[in-house]
Amino acid sequence: MKIYKAADYKEMSRKAANIIASQVILKPDCVLGLATGSTPIGTYERLVSLYKEGNLDFSNVKTVNLDEYKGLPRTNDQSYYYFMHENLFDKVNIDPANTNLPDGMEPDSDKECARYEELIESLGGVDLQLLGLGHNGHIGFNEPADAFDKVTHCVDLQESTIEANKRFFASADDVPKQAYTMGIGTIMRAKKVLLVVSGEDKADIVAKAFFGPVTPAVPASILQMHGDVTLVADAAALSKIPQ
Ligand code: GLP
Repeated sequence: MKIYKAADYKEMSRKAANIIASQVILKPDCVLGLATGSTPIGTYERLVSLYKEGNLDFSNVKTVNLDEYKGLPRTNDQSYYYFMHENLFDKVNIDPANTNLPDGMEPDSDKECARYEELIESLGGVDLQLLGLGHNGHIGFNEPADAFDKVTHCVDLQESTIEANKRFFASADDVPKQAYTMGIGTIMRAKKVLLVVSGEDKADIVAKAFFGPVTPAVPASILQMHGDVTLVADAAALSKIPQ
């Protein structure tokens, strides 16, 4: 695992965007795995700037997002579909037909998860997967569990995740209780993984996930077994890792 220590959120975002940009430049028709949450917002802003400056062309890029709330329509401003359009897709020259997220409005979980997994495979797999990190070590919406989930599946969100995400909703009751997410196996099949983490509140989980035992109780810990992971984090998030 490569670890880049950034001074702050801004530098973390620039570094992460540069890594994604180099992937797009080297393989213009690459498949990017994308993430939501507050952490990658600065990375997307920087990618938009690189595009506007004429340094990046998304016209042949394909994307697959990690996850989506089940039961939220695309038009809901808390859906990940809405987030991606707001933060990236509507601001660069990506073809909307090349962007993919799980369909949160498909009620049949088995059908939707099988469709999404097949879609990723039909695209040839993910070249570079961007990830954020939940406080409990979740990646995508893979919550701590007894075993690692292999493929895209429907999850019951944990209380702590609902708590963490309620800031975006009117109340905790409005946070959807389920989501569709790529599995740990799906994520591990990505050729490269780029993880962005910021803030002191993530320092404990960063130390646990990347310097502790590999266990499904800390889903991100499995990334220790991936051959090409880059962690870009600010100094605060790295403040508890062994020197
Ligand atoms: C959410 C998302 C994850 C994200 C995580 C951390 O629940 N499903 O993909 O990485 O929480 O979010 P944040 O970056 O806002 O801390």
